[in-house]
Amino acid sequence: MSSYVTRTTPGNTAWFRHDRFGMFIHWGLYALPARHEWIKNMEEIPDEKYQKYFDHFDPDLYDAREWARQAKAAGMKYAVMTTKHHEGFCMFDSQYTDYKCTNTRAGRDLIREYVDSFRAEGMKIGFYYSLIDWHHPDFTIDPIHPQRNLPRETVEELNAKRDMHRYAQYMRNKVQELLTNYGKIDILWFDFSYPDNCPADKPWLVGKGRKDWESEELIALARRLQPGIMIDNRADIEQDLWTPEQYQPQSWLRHKETGELVTWEACQTFSGSWGYHRDETSWKSPEMLIQMLVQTVSLGGNLLMNVGPTARGYLDHRAEAALKVYADWMRYNSRSIYGCTMAEPEFQAPEGTWLTQSEDGKRLYVHLFRYPFGVLEMPGFAGKVEYAQFLHDASELQFTERAVDHFSEGTTKAEDLLVIRLPVLKPQVLVPVIELYLKD
Ligand code: GLC
Repeated sequence: MSSYVTRTTPGNTAWFRHDRFGMFIHWGLYALPARHEWIKNMEEIPDEKYQKYFDHFDPDLYDAREWARQAKAAGMKYAVMTTKHHEGFCMFDSQYTDYKCTNTRAGRDLIREYVDSFRAEGMKIGFYYSLIDWHHPDFTIDPIHPQRNLPRETVEELNAKRDMHRYAQYMRNKVQELLTNYGKIDILWFDFSYPDNCPADKPWLVGKGRKDWESEELIALARRLQPGIMIDNRADIEQDLWTPEQYQPQSWLRHKETGELVTWEACQTFSGSWGYHRDETSWKSPEMLIQMLVQTVSLGGNLLMNVGPTARGYLDHRAEAALKVYADWMRYNSRSIYGCTMAEPEFQAPEGTWLTQSEDGKRLYVHLFRYPFGVLEMPGFAGKVEYAQFLHDASELQFTERAVDHFSEGTTKAEDLLVIRLPVLKPQVLVPVIELYLKD
């Protein structure tokens, strides 16, 4: 058994740590401007001007079953979709707002189709819900609000009429709908808090945190409606899930006070922004995509990889190609991901490789990011391996222990050395994996 113990939290996290790989979906009105999901903030767009995206939203090619099929083929086991992003637009039907997809040309509840389709593919269902709302009349202007640069007097005048307490009630109503109308929901992904964001040059703008969201009540409501649901930490109260964003942690995340290992999930993008971005050219390479997944699992984490569908409702060719990279690799190599975690400390990854180990401790996976010539030398592994094979085709890899013979230089000897013989030609697998069956 793995010797790593994760901090216990109120939600059910066991399935999550087993499944390891999920799809993030950022879809909203910002798919129309197609130049970042924060566009309303970045270009300081007032409601009247943002309205054109609502008026022209017509996702005629939306087919959630197709998304679900691609997610499943990529090896993803769960999904988290934006029910509402910072812009405030709701992708689901709600009795508490008119600013929702059912009132656009879409004419239907887009979240319902997502839930039904992903569930039909056997995937677990997550809802992303933005605590931030740049459309709601009670949401006060703050340092990241589109109207933050209005003159101080105007901001103060507007804010005096806004009521965050009413807004918090609105959020609870929305969360109540989301957690009541769609069956079992596995993850609630709140985004995000910024209580310390208070610009020195504009002291009248203050960030928001748990007091503003009334997080305790909000979370209690969610737990009452969906016992066992996993909730992330971004409502400014620690819950089940730590969520490093757009960087790869270099070690397993730990609880700040207790030092315990925590359940964590890196959220990452294919190209940098979360919503559909037409002109972005910073798409990650196939090798990097696999590397991010393997590296995450090798540190005991999950990967939530994002797609930003177009405003017409499909995944563009770049997103499809990126998902295909995962599909091709996972088809044969998912055994090194599902139910796997960080390798026991006694196993140190040889250079150019990353290790994962099955939760029961019986198998070790060596991911060859730099394919070596002829042999892989593994110091520290002698006497521990019963059988070795390539994972993708279960072809045996012969090994010797304690010594490597070199044609002209004699022999390298080391008591703890395991030497795996590899074919000179790298197999037709982006990142080949060696599966080691360990001795009991
Ligand atoms: C950030 C951004 C946001 C994105 C989220 C995903 O907090 O505000 O656009 O939805 O990260 O983690």
